[in-house]
Amino acid sequence: MKVLVIGAGGREHVIAHKLKQSPLVNEIFAIPGNDAMSKVAQVHSEIAETEHEQIVAFAQQHGITWAIIGPEQPLTEGLTDKLEAAQIKVFGPNRAAAQIEGSKLFAKELMKKYDIPTAEYTQITNKQDALTYIQSCEYPVVLKKDGLAAGKGVIIAESYEEALSGVEELYQEEEVIVVFEQFLEGEEFSLMTFVNNDYAVPFDCIAQDHKRAFDGDLGPNTGGMGAYCPVPHIEDSIIKRTNDEIAQPIAKALVNEGYSFFGVLYIGAIITDEGPKVIEFNARFGDPEAQVLLTRMESDLMQHILDLEAKKPIQFQWKVDSVVGVMLASKGYPANYEKGKTVSGFDLDGQYFVSGLKKEQDIYVTSGGRVILALGEGKDIASAKAKAYEAVDKIKSNALFYRKDISDKALK
Ligand code: AMP
Ligand code: GLY
Repeated sequence: MKVLVIGAGGREHVIAHKLKQSPLVNEIFAIPGNDAMSKVAQVHSEIAETEHEQIVAFAQQHGITWAIIGPEQPLTEGLTDKLEAAQIKVFGPNRAAAQIEGSKLFAKELMKKYDIPTAEYTQITNKQDALTYIQSCEYPVVLKKDGLAAGKGVIIAESYEEALSGVEELYQEEEVIVVFEQFLEGEEFSLMTFVNNDYAVPFDCIAQDHKRAFDGDLGPNTGGMGAYCPVPHIEDSIIKRTNDEIAQPIAKALVNEGYSFFGVLYIGAIITDEGPKVIEFNARFGDPEAQVLLTRMESDLMQHILDLEAKKPIQFQWKVDSVVGVMLASKGYPANYEKGKTVSGFDLDGQYFVSGLKKEQDIYVTSGGRVILALGEGKDIASAKAKAYEAVDKIKSNALFYRKDISDKALK
């Protein structure tokens, strides 16, 4: 079978790498992909992720059976709908169902209606009301702009002054919807759930991301600075509750509301005193969670997708080893950073997944904020972490930074 992977980051790199191991898959294509993916896929970067008509035409010309869409943007822009209209199967929800990620308000309203545990919230559509609200709300308060924001549209305001500058920042255009949310305290984790309408099968291995830019969870929010799995200090009972109280009910809620979701639903959860609550839903694999989870997954990803389609039982199998992944990012990210800086020292055999590099005359140079994830596998988190940082140390570049505490929450 021929499979087309849409996307250009580390998540898509690991998806292609994983598909390469499947006896069900004989050709893998990537649009736009990245240069580092060419070891495992036929990369077609002449087509952009946004060029839906060209993607559909490509898929038809190349006899693609399945397309797997990695990033949120093509999902929320309806690439799935267009491919499906051309009889191409797609792992990744259609435009309507992808709103669960694309609109914070859509997700919050759905959770409220179906009693799915999440932070209390109120939506405010104009600046004046927002200014009034922040005079009397409880602090900290969380401000979330409706719409996609690449992990960067969230402001946690500790005080009235911070909320005020947040309001100034978010209400720059007219017709802005901002969700003001109760601040929840607790440890976060990411649970990937395979969903085919009312059939929802969560991974029985969770991951933990590191969203802040700097050690100790300091600095601005990013797309994710590193991840690891499994997460040994989070008990199975929490994962079970997340399945019972969040994964199963949200799948049913979507069906009940007339949506058809086929793909992976990412549950970003936080463990509060009252149990797990939803911080966010994504309509896709997490990045960098996918890199560590699919590295640890021993079973066949493509087989799981086929079983999901047929609503057959899915038994994920995992390596005994733990996996830790450390993201190296361009200095300055998530704000401004320079591109075109040389990076070398890595190989492409499964220990590194590339997010933001391109090849110029046989040399890799940076082309994005998050650049490359270095992985380590080991019998426990401590040894996986040590291996991951050995892999980091092999990378030669003076343009990158990384966190030194990835997975430390599991080591306390
Ligand atoms: P999001 O883009 O919704 O995932 O938010 C980014 C990050 O902001 C999350 O991973 C949390 O660390 C933090 N965050 C978002 N919402 C809340 C909340 N209600 N309470 C506490 N932290 C939050
Ligand atoms: N790592 C967080 C995300 O993919 O949204």
